[in-house]
Amino acid sequence: MKEIISFDHVTFSYDDIPIIENACFSVKEGELIGVFGPNGGGKTTLLKLLMGFIKPNSGRASLFGKSPKESHQNIGYVPQKLPFDPNFPISVLEVVLTGCLSKLPWHGRYSSENEKDAYHALEQVDMVDFSGQAFGTLSGGQAQRVLIARALVSKPKLLLLDEPTAGIDAQTETEIYKQLDELRGKVTIIMVTHHLRIVTEFADRVLLVQRDVTSLDSKELCEHFAIGLYHPPHLKKERS
Ligand SMILES: Nc1ncnc2c1ncn2[C@@H]1O[C@H](COP(=O)(O)OP(=O)(O)OP(=O)(O)O)[C@@H](O)[C@H]1O
Ligand SMILES: [Mg+2]
Repeated sequence: MKEIISFDHVTFSYDDIPIIENACFSVKEGELIGVFGPNGGGKTTLLKLLMGFIKPNSGRASLFGKSPKESHQNIGYVPQKLPFDPNFPISVLEVVLTGCLSKLPWHGRYSSENEKDAYHALEQVDMVDFSGQAFGTLSGGQAQRVLIARALVSKPKLLLLDEPTAGIDAQTETEIYKQLDELRGKVTIIMVTHHLRIVTEFADRVLLVQRDVTSLDSKELCEHFAIGLYHPPHLKKERS
């Protein structure tokens, strides 16, 4: 399989505080990767580096053979926090259409093709019946599925999800994972989660992020090992 992501000694700091240090890893096309690690360990920061929202201080990040910024059209992103005010009066379909923004023509109008893609994305997450409903009235699990549809609408080659099932009940969570499982192999998926069971059962491989980035085979990551490996990043900083 073709390598689509490569991080070569990537270091990133906020105000001189290192958040990601010397990260070296690669991802192949079609892989489903779990990103795991303690709060504040740098998982969201790693996704932001992948999207080119922030730039490494040193080292090189490349996506599809280009810089992350040049590759953003290939990426669908499901953020950890809602990207807009949930009370803003916007329908489910309109939320999904905002996922087409980066591909809109100069006049900025959605085409009928965009709408067709939006309905298709809603079908993929089983939410097409809600297309006309106000987004703010959805339950947490339904809203999350719509945000996944929003990320899928631009037909990305790479799907990044930042804790897509946080605060969601077990049954809806299982449904979301089933839907993501159906995308397995069709799109490369990188998903941040705190659920160890999901990482071990669902992902092909795990990136453990706690300032440094370690790639592990999911099978290597049993619960005991993960707990043993966890340490607050600031402790690590004091030691080094
Ligand atoms: N814009 C920012 N400016 C300064 N520091 C930041 C900024 N964004 C994040 N940080 C810091 O960077 C560190 C890593 O944050 P990040 O959001 O990547 O962690 P995370 O692994 O996603 O945590 P969580 O599991 O809580 O979502 C934290 O200490 C955080 O306070
Ligand atoms: Mg985070």
